[in-house]
Amino acid sequence: MLETVRGPRQLIVGEGVAQNIPRVVAESGSRVLIVTDRVLLGQPAVAEIVAAVRGRVEVFSDATPDVPLTDVDLAVAAAAAVDADVILAVGGGTVIDLAKIVGVIRRHGGSPRDYYGESRVPGPTIPLIAVPTTSGTGSELTPVSVLTDPDRELKVGVSSVHIVPDFAIVDPELTYTCPAGVTAHSGIDAFCHAVESYTARPRPHGPRDPVEQVFLGRNPITDHYALRAAERIARSLRRAVLDGGDKDARADMSYGSMLAGIAFSHAGNAAPHALQYPIGAATHTPHGLGVGLLLPYALDAARHAIGDRLATLAGVCGLDVAGASEAEAADAFLTWLDRLLADIGIPATLADIGVARADLPRFAEMAGGVTRLIQNHPGPTDTAGLTAVLEAAWTGERTRPVLTLDSGPS
Ligand SMILES: NC(=O)c1ccc[n+]([C@@H]2O[C@H](COP(=O)([O-])OP(=O)(O)OC[C@H]3O[C@@H](n4cnc5c(N)ncnc54)[C@H](O)[C@@H]3O)[C@@H](O)[C@H]2O)c1
Ligand SMILES: [Fe+2]
Repeated sequence: MLETVRGPRQLIVGEGVAQNIPRVVAESGSRVLIVTDRVLLGQPAVAEIVAAVRGRVEVFSDATPDVPLTDVDLAVAAAAAVDADVILAVGGGTVIDLAKIVGVIRRHGGSPRDYYGESRVPGPTIPLIAVPTTSGTGSELTPVSVLTDPDRELKVGVSSVHIVPDFAIVDPELTYTCPAGVTAHSGIDAFCHAVESYTARPRPHGPRDPVEQVFLGRNPITDHYALRAAERIARSLRRAVLDGGDKDARADMSYGSMLAGIAFSHAGNAAPHALQYPIGAATHTPHGLGVGLLLPYALDAARHAIGDRLATLAGVCGLDVAGASEAEAADAFLTWLDRLLADIGIPATLADIGVARADLPRFAEMAGGVTRLIQNHPGPTDTAGLTAVLEAAWTGERTRPVLTLDSGPS
């Protein structure tokens, strides 16, 4: 047996826990860089958090989606201006990912490019307190920061156990202001994290791997977190999108996205995430929209290997599959997923978001190069296999009856 669990030193979840932020920050340092964005800073709840932080404070509120390297330079300069010894990030995945790389550069110098890939951060960074306002990427507890480099066609990842935030303070009340689109995209991203972790190809690893590698493949612990995450998100994502004021649904989404983050922090994500890189770059569509759109097609392509897992997901997601065969339960899950995606406004095909069919083989080849993700895909991972996933996602072809708007379980 060989298991690994990593995470923040303290992970606090629940309504109202944001009030602990000033104390946690003060105990971690006295010269504070706060990272957030303009939209959030304009909201009373976030403005209140910023105003309550004690010590010397510099606020960087110019974070823009997907962490362009220019933002990193500006935020590093803001950190230097206050000689920051602690960072507080209040925002979505963009803001937290930006704060992570700023913490690395503040402690170890250099530029983001020095740290692309896995395990290239040489040691701990300055303390980071992460407060998510979306549900979500799970970035408040993951070992990943995803950046956009203008010299690269695809987004790049910095993955290291040293960038797991020191404190994660997850307060569902901070997500109440998320508009429906952000709720849908970030919420389905979290569902993908759960399902991609749960269906990841198992990978044998040795006793040195937990220190030398960041992602280790699925194991019984990641399975546990992934299933609990899927359960919460399945029962509440649709409700959170349709009624942003549904507090129970918001709480489930905060909790579920956090659990999904724990799962994929160790297991790793898979083909939908790898394939979204070129699709997102070409279409400028949000990360969550892309991974959500691709998920059913990637699962379809691996059905032979993961039928039992899809059947388990059917039960966990609340479908009545008592007495159903494994294949029937797997079908029920995939059909339910189609319906969920349609209900929360995720386009059904790559053609719908303007992808040119001629580009698919090139995109497949690019995604195939994202080894850390693609090695987890339980289906074929050669260019032909990945092109087949994209072709199906372009045409909308499924291995089961295609959903029409008035059919299928809700
Ligand atoms: N580090 C990781 O582990 C990880 C995992 C998955 C995705 N990501 C990355 O995270 C990014 C996506 O993050 P995201 O989905 O959280 O979205 P985001 O952080 O990009 O935010 C999207 C939009 O929502 C707004 N917003 C955020 N919270 C809000 C709130 N409470 N009220 C109103 N508006 C709000 C933001 O201002 C922004 O305009 C991508 O760059 C993706 O690659 C990182
Ligand atoms: Fe994601």
